[in-house]
Amino acid sequence: MSEPAHDKRITLRDLRRWAKGGEPFAMLTCYDATTARWLYRGGLRTMLVGDTAAQFILGHDSTLPAPMPFMLEITKAVRRGAPKALIVADMPFGSYQCGADEAMQHAVAFMKDGGADLVKLEVDETHAALVERMSHAGVPVVAHLGSRPQQVRATGGYKAAGRSPREAELIVDTAELMIARGASALLLEAVPDEVSKRVVQIARGRDDGEPVPVIGCGAGPACHGHVVVLHDLLKLSDWQPPFAPPAIDVGSQIQTAAAAWVRAVSRGEYQRDGGAYHLNPPKAPETPPKAPRSGEPTRPGVV
Ligand code: KIV
Repeated sequence: MSEPAHDKRITLRDLRRWAKGGEPFAMLTCYDATTARWLYRGGLRTMLVGDTAAQFILGHDSTLPAPMPFMLEITKAVRRGAPKALIVADMPFGSYQCGADEAMQHAVAFMKDGGADLVKLEVDETHAALVERMSHAGVPVVAHLGSRPQQVRATGGYKAAGRSPREAELIVDTAELMIARGASALLLEAVPDEVSKRVVQIARGRDDGEPVPVIGCGAGPACHGHVVVLHDLLKLSDWQPPFAPPAIDVGSQIQTAAAAWVRAVSRGEYQRDGGAYHLNPPKAPETPPKAPRSGEPTRPGVV
């Protein structure tokens, strides 16, 4: 993943350049400014403010309750933490299902107030007109296909998508439709690599030769870029999907740090040496300023 010259802000052009040049790019979910700052320092240049924040930040059991004002606020926070990263804002459930005008207002809010570069929608073929309208309005859309967690109540649970020939065909056809209607990128969640390969093939074929970047989330190696939930990578979640093995066990480290803190405080060891702050030493009695001798230079305001 080659950097643009002079550490410039990452744009959709960089995503396309990486996709075209066969340079796989890394994306993670991010929900706050501090984490965004550290992720950027670690070399991460693309972040998704995912509606999984409803689960990992707010403690819900699905993404459905993610509130629009909350998603907007955390998008702003991530932007403040990583001013040069490419940021995708996830449109939460209910923010684009209640009419095209309302969907447009929410998408524009993510761009104008949130500082997002793109918005992500979980789509099927019925969203084609909305994707087209957003794209024409200057709101770049990531069309999320495959497993769609916002459908969890409708489907009765989470599962991989595109494993049967019929399902695979539907995903490929919908990807083609979304590209035709102006989607700027695609995200494939939990689909077989064979399906991703076909979508990447379709995404390559734009008139100007620029590919539409395909981001995989457990969608095999064919995708141009890959995203997983940060809390899975850090083992902050209690369970990780098979495609998101933890890189480090931050959960246990937090637990160890908490235990050490509790131990130190409860044993009276904390600040046993008297603490960080001490009374100021008594001030020396003030001596009256000497009057300047005649001819001696004085500074303005000094007598
Ligand atoms: O919200 C999210 O975290 C996502 C990823 C799982 C792709 O949509």
